[in-house]
Amino acid sequence: MDLFEWQAKELFAKHAVPTTRQVVVSTPEQARAAAEELGGGPVMVKAQVKTGGRGKAGGVKFAPDAAAAEEHARAILGMDIKGHTVHTVLVSEAADIGEEYYFSFLLDRANRAYLAMCSAEGGMEIEQLAVEKPDALARVPVDPVAGVDAAKAREIVEAGNLPAAVRDEAIDVVVKLWGVFTAEEATLVEVNPLVRTPDDRVLALDGKVTLDDNADFRHKDVHDAYRDNSATDPLEVRAKEKGLNYVKLDGVVGIIGNGAGLVMSTLDVVAYAGEKHGGVKPANFLDIGGGASAEVMANGLEIILSDPAVRSVFVNVFGGITACDAVANGIVQALQMLESRGESLTKPLVVRLDGNNAAEGRRILSEAAHPLVEQVDTMDGAADRVAELAHTTGSAA
Ligand SMILES: Nc1ncnc2c1ncn2[C@@H]1O[C@H](COP(=O)(O)OP(=O)(O)OP(=O)(O)O)[C@@H](O)[C@H]1O
Ligand SMILES: [Mg+2]
Repeated sequence: MDLFEWQAKELFAKHAVPTTRQVVVSTPEQARAAAEELGGGPVMVKAQVKTGGRGKAGGVKFAPDAAAAEEHARAILGMDIKGHTVHTVLVSEAADIGEEYYFSFLLDRANRAYLAMCSAEGGMEIEQLAVEKPDALARVPVDPVAGVDAAKAREIVEAGNLPAAVRDEAIDVVVKLWGVFTAEEATLVEVNPLVRTPDDRVLALDGKVTLDDNADFRHKDVHDAYRDNSATDPLEVRAKEKGLNYVKLDGVVGIIGNGAGLVMSTLDVVAYAGEKHGGVKPANFLDIGGGASAEVMANGLEIILSDPAVRSVFVNVFGGITACDAVANGIVQALQMLESRGESLTKPLVVRLDGNNAAEGRRILSEAAHPLVEQVDTMDGAADRVAELAHTTGSAA
């Protein structure tokens, strides 16, 4: 999970990394109040979006006083920065800047290690620096077991050519940033700029942190508090709440299957079959996993059927531990459940059952004779039929 700057800097403060005081707000009036709370200015007003280059896009502004903070917030809120709408701004004390440095810890997958990057030439042009003056950007491997102590931090800071006058300060900050990286289980901690103030203090003025999603069960409080669903597809949010493995795609054929591998190949065969039927494509990925109970099936169908883009649905199940008769009963009950919840079902379902107890599963579905359900016994045949249904309902509409 990528964090907003304000969240990253909140974690910095938690680990005693020196930074500026800040208040995150969502209206111009709140920005004025925040600036007053921070001593009346000067402050920086900064767009909170999860993308780089905010400064260049006009999303980072200096405000000498609270009135100016309000004006800047009014201009920045609602701004579009590389496809991200600004919903909140950070009001932060403005620091006096002597020099701007670059610092980061990241996961170096290729070398199965961590990497520290450090440069005395930080600021907004770091990508350009990496290309044009690669020698000015030190890359120091970090042994994950040995970690970063003061001696290692000194090596990193010296490699980055940070001036002697701030070296001890910088070493202290680097050790603390290592604390953020490890204690919070991040895969990226980047500070650009890390600044030197005229009185030789070192401050983190920006923060970019990526937390490791695989570790979220160990950091529930932080992850729950920082999760942001405003940019996530609402169907994906609902699916996640129900514990479903769902990814929205941009086609029109809804897909449900059991097992990620089967669902992946279902996407392929549907896309292939779609080429013969007006170019229709899969509308989603949904893996309902091994135990396809009626409730899980109902939840899955509900999510897919509530996607207005979906015109037909392919339920592709290979019976394994959960046999096909159980899945067939699950489908029948799921449709009853949805109808009793008052959903008006209109989209055709193509069901392919194979594997453990397939014959019994098919019999159960035939007997139930639901008007929207059609059975096709092969995966390719079913893909062809569901694509055809999506195409014809689409052209009829
Ligand atoms: N609190 C602050 N006090 C003084 N100057 C600041 C402060 N925050 C940012 N700045 C100045 O604004 C510049 C841009 O800010 P920042 O690094 O946060 O945004 P950015 O680099 O444009 O965004 P991104 O890191 O997303 O690309 C900094 O390099 C620094 O010169
Ligand atoms: Mg920056």
